[in-house]
Amino acid sequence: MTSSERFAGKSIIVTGASAGIGHALTRKLVSEGAHVFAAARNEGKLNGLSEQSQGLPGKITPVRTDIRNALDVQHLFERVDAAGSGLDIVINNAAHGHNSHVDEMSIEEINSIVSTNLLGTIYMTREALQRMKLQGKGHLAFVSSLAGRMAFPNLSVYSATKFGIEGFAEAIREELKGMNILTTVLRPGVTDTNFFENADMHDFAEKMKHKMQSADSVASDIADALAAKREDSTIGPDKYFMPLLKILPTNIARKFLRFFS
Ligand SMILES: NC(=O)c1ccc[n+]([C@@H]2O[C@H](COP(=O)([O-])OP(=O)(O)OC[C@H]3O[C@@H](n4cnc5c(N)ncnc54)[C@H](OP(=O)(O)O)[C@@H]3O)[C@@H](O)[C@H]2O)c1
Repeated sequence: MTSSERFAGKSIIVTGASAGIGHALTRKLVSEGAHVFAAARNEGKLNGLSEQSQGLPGKITPVRTDIRNALDVQHLFERVDAAGSGLDIVINNAAHGHNSHVDEMSIEEINSIVSTNLLGTIYMTREALQRMKLQGKGHLAFVSSLAGRMAFPNLSVYSATKFGIEGFAEAIREELKGMNILTTVLRPGVTDTNFFENADMHDFAEKMKHKMQSADSVASDIADALAAKREDSTIGPDKYFMPLLKILPTNIARKFLRFFS
């Protein structure tokens, strides 16, 4: 099979498809023949993505979805059901953060981060598994972060959600043993998207500018990890650091990271 056929005919949901990594990943999967149900709140951007992707081998169905809302999530899966081609892969990618100490954050900001990054992913997984268990197959992917393995100051709430995703995915993987439903945890390194602008992290983005990966290259590595059915994939230079986290105490690992950043 050539690399351009890896996702031919596959029915795939991508959350956070209106921008950044999710946008690039949707295009990548459609360029390899997938039918992507592209979910995010910004319908205009989803429609734009769908127009840009005309002429590619696969297709996009934009579905306006706020994953904080369980009814929106249910509606997204009903759109997939209505298409009648089953559900092969769900990529839980939508998330946001905010650069602040928790005591300086509003309740609305805290609720939005937790309900998007963690609760939304749990709602998505609930709907996905109800279908995948009936089908007897499927693949769940969770976009985590280095912040899901090592907590960062000023990102305590974001880190809490990413640690939560890591624990959730690990538990799900154990529950699904022998059921032909795979789980993949993905950890992109620092990537050039609007994430940092939205999170009020302009100084960090400026400092890391020369080290940022493009969303297209991250999307390509994610597609490779999914096609290879990997359980775990850290993308970019963080992949060399991740093994150190397993053997060094976090405070020593943190010094390494600071030195090389
Ligand atoms: N950029 C990095 O350096 C980096 C590093 C490690 C991990 N990550 C992870 O990679 C993933 C993608 O981040 P990104 O960098 O591509 O960020 P981004 O450019 O800010 O994109 C975030 C996406 O999430 C969507 N979203 C936010 N809230 C949503 C909600 N309530 N319901 C549905 N969709 C929602 C946004 O769309 P709407 O606003 O239209 O809803 C947007 O499409 C996230 O999980 C992030 O934690 C990023």
